[in-house]
Amino acid sequence: MKIIQVKDYEEMSKKAAAVLAAKVVSDPECVLGLATGSTPEGAYRFLVEWYEKGLLDFSGITTMNLDEYKGISKENEQSYYYFMKKHLFSKVNIKENQTCIPDGEEEDGEKVCREYEELIQSVHGVDLQLLGIGRNGHIGFNEPCGEFMKRCHCVTLTESTIEANKRFFESEDQVPRQAYTMGIGTIMSADRILLLASGEEKAEALYQAVCGPITPNVPASILQLHDQVTIIADEAAMSKMNYQS
Ligand code: PGA
Repeated sequence: MKIIQVKDYEEMSKKAAAVLAAKVVSDPECVLGLATGSTPEGAYRFLVEWYEKGLLDFSGITTMNLDEYKGISKENEQSYYYFMKKHLFSKVNIKENQTCIPDGEEEDGEKVCREYEELIQSVHGVDLQLLGIGRNGHIGFNEPCGEFMKRCHCVTLTESTIEANKRFFESEDQVPRQAYTMGIGTIMSADRILLLASGEEKAEALYQAVCGPITPNVPASILQLHDQVTIIADEAAMSKMNYQS
């Protein structure tokens, strides 16, 4: 694991965008695994800025998003489909039919997950996967549980995740209770993984993920077994690690 400590969210975002941009430049037909949430927003902002300056061409790339709420329409501003359109897809020259997100409108979870997994296999897997980390150590929507769920699956969100995500909704009641997510095996199959963490509320999860035992109770801890993981974390997210070391 390579850990890069940066000062703050802005520096994390710029460095993360640089890693993604370098991949797009060096491999214009690559498959990027993308994430949503507050963490990657800044990185997408830099990518859009560099695209507008003519530095990047997204026309050949394919994207595979990590997850999507179940039972949410694409028009819903809280859907990850909407998020990706708003922050990246509508602002760069990526081809719409090369952007892939699990279909949150489809009720048949088994079908969605099987088809999404097949889609990822059909493009020969993800080359570079971007990840955030949940306060409970989740990656994608792989919540702490008794086992590492291998492939795409439907997950019931934990109270901690509902609590963390309610800030995006008008009320806690509106936060979907279930989601479709890439599995841990799906994520671990990516050639390279870039995990971002910002803020003190991520410090404990990051510490457990990097220094704690490998356990499905901290899903991100599995990343200790992947040999191409880069973590970019700001001082606040690293605070527990620096304190402990
Ligand atoms: P956040 O979520 O970026 O909104 O903090 C990260 C995550 O839950 O993976």
